[in-house]
Amino acid sequence: MQALIIEGSTRSPASTMAHVQALASAQPKETHHDIVALRDLALPLFEDHRVDWSWSRSQPLESLYQQMQAADVILLATPLYWYNVSHLMKNFLDHWSYLLRHPDRPMAETLEGKSIGFVVVGSGVEGRELRQPVFQSLRLSVEYIKARCIGGFYGVGLRGGQPHPDSLAAISDLSLGAWHETGEAGPTDQPWFGY
Ligand SMILES: Cc1cc2nc3c(=O)[nH]c(=O)nc-3n(C[C@H](O)[C@H](O)[C@H](O)COP(=O)(O)O)c2cc1C
Repeated sequence: MQALIIEGSTRSPASTMAHVQALASAQPKETHHDIVALRDLALPLFEDHRVDWSWSRSQPLESLYQQMQAADVILLATPLYWYNVSHLMKNFLDHWSYLLRHPDRPMAETLEGKSIGFVVVGSGVEGRELRQPVFQSLRLSVEYIKARCIGGFYGVGLRGGQPHPDSLAAISDLSLGAWHETGEAGPTDQPWFGY
């Protein structure tokens, strides 16, 4: 199985990156993974050029789009910023508007049915309702491109980009293969799962 994790933290070290690295390193060797940090990718800042989409063609975006097509499961991992995704993740999602109109391979055709899940890392432990906006916005975006939403994991970050040890342990217990197959990140009554 090939997993692609797209990570949208704006700093290093980052608790979001620590969570996805812990998840990836706990998987069996048959589960191959790539982690792409949007911070290192130099995607252009999205501008709406829907009358001239050739403007939006950028090599980093094309390469990442190819990796998305090749993956069995994709995770979008982001810090929680003001109840939503980081600006790096939002910028990437905005580029989907171009990928949906991709001249050779429109996104809703190439990623139809593809499993996409989420890892969101915030500083708050309490208040499940405060996590709803980010997970709902990610789920609706994934459904819009006709991919298969497999739900999300909520992790907690501490000061200085350090992950909370309990949420790090919880994410290390997850099986990416099972998540991909069943569409469940884990029991929804645990504080670490998004919904
Ligand atoms: C601009 C900004 C907005 C934030 N908004 C929230 C928020 O709405 N809810 C929350 O629980 N934490 C919020 N935080 C805290 C981060 O989600 C938390 O520090 C997280 O661990 C950062 O992830 P990182 O270590 O991967 O950068 C915010 C932090 C920043 C810098």
